[in-house]
Amino acid sequence: MKIQPVRGTHDIYGDKLNSYKFIEQTISKLANIYDYKEIITPIFENTNLFKKPLGEHSDVVLKEMYTFDDRNDSSLTLRPEYTTPMIRAAISNNLLDKLPAKLFGFGPMFRRERPQKGRYRQFNQINLEILGVEDSFADAEIIILANEFLDKILTNKKTKLFINSLGDHKTIDKYKKNLTTFFEKYRNDLSEESKAKIHSNPLRILDSKDERDIYLFTNSPKLKDFYSDSALHKFEEVKSLLLKSKINFEIDNNLVRGLDYYCHTVFEFKSDEIGSQDTIIGGGRYDGLTKLLGGPDIPGVGWASGIERLAMLSKTFEEEQSLIHVIILNERFKGYGFNFINNLRKNNIKTTFDYKYNLKKSLSKANINQAKFAVIIGEDEVNNNTFSLKSLFEGSQKAMPENEIIKLLKQ
Ligand code: HAM
Repeated sequence: MKIQPVRGTHDIYGDKLNSYKFIEQTISKLANIYDYKEIITPIFENTNLFKKPLGEHSDVVLKEMYTFDDRNDSSLTLRPEYTTPMIRAAISNNLLDKLPAKLFGFGPMFRRERPQKGRYRQFNQINLEILGVEDSFADAEIIILANEFLDKILTNKKTKLFINSLGDHKTIDKYKKNLTTFFEKYRNDLSEESKAKIHSNPLRILDSKDERDIYLFTNSPKLKDFYSDSALHKFEEVKSLLLKSKINFEIDNNLVRGLDYYCHTVFEFKSDEIGSQDTIIGGGRYDGLTKLLGGPDIPGVGWASGIERLAMLSKTFEEEQSLIHVIILNERFKGYGFNFINNLRKNNIKTTFDYKYNLKKSLSKANINQAKFAVIIGEDEVNNNTFSLKSLFEGSQKAMPENEIIKLLKQ
């Protein structure tokens, strides 16, 4: 068997790489318009950065982190997500002295999940965060940015936005207790996986796709019955701002997200065209997280998106072909051809040379690549200090000095 990449990882090249680049360039331009600053943080961090904020009982911390001992026995973890490292970096570098801090970035994340379509163990995320703003304007703004981003990169609108509010942290605690009591009562009707979460992580049961669990949801306590007045007001405000911007969305009161740090607004953009791993953007508010990481007590809101999933829906791009193939008829003319090829490239002309010194083979390759021109270098050309430009579409051929060829090809 051929050597393969590690299970759950993949190589990115050709058309797929072009899509990735397009996606990254689009978000960079948009983030700049919305006044975000780019940041790049290390791929590994101290393990403690993730454990508590993401939730000791979350799937990510329990099963999916790539954690290893460094040589001095400290525990390191390949970042499974970008929000906590970004906040850590903002604290470490005093970026929170002036608020709001609006940060964005992209790069690889690592989670040891079961690989399947749209789910990898090393995947690439785009991540945007607004730190220091309590105003619902920020929640709505970041959702609108996500929507505009999808409009720009998808061939047509194939996504649906779901939103919910988790209320404040007190709401969430109260709701979790009620859910635990309810699910404990119906323990025997739950799936095995959900049974294990009754006490440790009852919110996650609401994410279950198991029929037995879903059946119970009809009568389970509803989050909206636990909102405080201020949480309700905040949710109404986010909804009304979104309505103003004419964005379509659906309220999903069971949307709770997989990481522990969320409160108030949570949202997901989903697509029904990419299989079961259908969330392409996920995010929400995380007031309290910055304080938990040792920074000031400031609120935050943000989202992340998997580039692999975006690329499955995005416009595609064919690789740019080289227009010019240089053909050197004999190795004796290598030095003459070498200088010419260097000069073309110095003039920013994309040039292909196949190192073959064989007219037939090289012409056939130029034709396969749909090159527009071949430049042929043989005895006559070297003696007359010229180069023969052959149009591969028309078949015509003309000997010319180097400066004329460069002038013509640059047009
Ligand atoms: P998340 O929902 O864990 O949230 O991940 C966000 C997005 O990353 C998902 O919607 C999906 O597109 C992509 N993704 C996650 N896991 C994988 C995987 N194994 N393979 C491919 N793509 C994947 C977060 O990470 C939060 N930090 C989002 C956030 C930012 N919340 C506030 N700010």
